[in-house]
Amino acid sequence: MSAPSKRVDSGQRVIAIRRWLHEHPELSGEERETTEAIKQWLHEAGIRVIDYGLQTGVVAEIGGSVGGHASGAAFQSEKSGRRLPVVALRADIDALPIREETGLPFASKIDGRMHACGHDFHTAALLGAALALKERENELPGIVRLLFQPAEEKAKGAQQLIAAGALDGVDAIFGIHNKPDLPVGTIGVRGGPLMAAADGFVVEVDGIGTHAASPEAGLDPIVTAAHIITALQSIVSRNVSALDSAVISVTRLNAGSAWNVIPDKAAFDGTIRTFAKEVRQTARHRFESVVAGVATAFGTTARVKWLEGPPAVVNDNRWAEVARRSATAEQLEVIESSPSPAGEDFAFYLQRTPGAFLFVGVDGPHPWHHPAFDLKEEALPITAKLLERLAVDALHELAPAESGSRSAGHH
Ligand code: NI
Repeated sequence: MSAPSKRVDSGQRVIAIRRWLHEHPELSGEERETTEAIKQWLHEAGIRVIDYGLQTGVVAEIGGSVGGHASGAAFQSEKSGRRLPVVALRADIDALPIREETGLPFASKIDGRMHACGHDFHTAALLGAALALKERENELPGIVRLLFQPAEEKAKGAQQLIAAGALDGVDAIFGIHNKPDLPVGTIGVRGGPLMAAADGFVVEVDGIGTHAASPEAGLDPIVTAAHIITALQSIVSRNVSALDSAVISVTRLNAGSAWNVIPDKAAFDGTIRTFAKEVRQTARHRFESVVAGVATAFGTTARVKWLEGPPAVVNDNRWAEVARRSATAEQLEVIESSPSPAGEDFAFYLQRTPGAFLFVGVDGPHPWHHPAFDLKEEALPITAKLLERLAVDALHELAPAESGSRSAGHH
């Protein structure tokens, strides 16, 4: 049991860590200073960092190394020779190209960069959990692997860590995202789809430019693009079941340079968000045939460039339930989270390894990616404690017979 004063200290520590991170935001793939700081904090706590050859980002482990060797493959329990369970906890560490407008005393020191999605909060919470887990390392019935992941905002970091082997041997994985519209002390959990597959598209329409007064002498790409964009609206309303969901948004449209010239090109781009794999496939196929068909009808041609984003975040029911129990045991209010149409590259981990992604209430005034995005720091020690408990609970779930008195059978 920790003394109350110690709890306050560890709470202040994670808040100080978060503030340092907030002052030093780095963009996706450029998180060098952040990486060094995380390594330093882990090193000071005696937590072993595992080298996966990453440019940015950090992987570390707690537990399982009775002999104290610093290898990432310490999977064997030295007593029983059995493979130890491995639970991964992930935090993303990157920031956004946004100029901060919070006016906080610890606002970004780097102009035009900001932790506007709260990844500083996630990183600090995971460090807080790591420091606490390190103190009880001897009682862990397995290994906790800490993934400080770079480049979430570009949906690249999870795939980098997977390619590097950082997910190998992991039995269950958990991640969190702060949620400004939930109160502090509330955790959003959901088995099944939680966040959307987030694909993008760029469409280029080729016509034939001409004088605006003689459109019959050319092929107008603007009229074609307008009809395509209108026809695309029928995909969600006519091809997706009322019981499923999808969003198609055209967010940019470019054509022309003068009021009296029909240009020879028009281009637009946007995004498609879906939750179910079949809906994702249907939307893409329909999108491509609508674009090609309408372009042909107007005598033009069109090309679609597909920007495949992360798949949907689909939580495993068993691990969502374990997370629910851990949060309840921490006296937190657990709600059934509604799905979010935002994307999250944690989805790539869940395609390989079962686990759960959770929403943590931070009671912020603005949504993610807002220049005045902010959160209540009281949520930080709570979240660190939740991650600590969740890791321990998940290890016990995976190694129920470790106590020796129980049989190895299922319960
Ligand atoms: Ni985020």
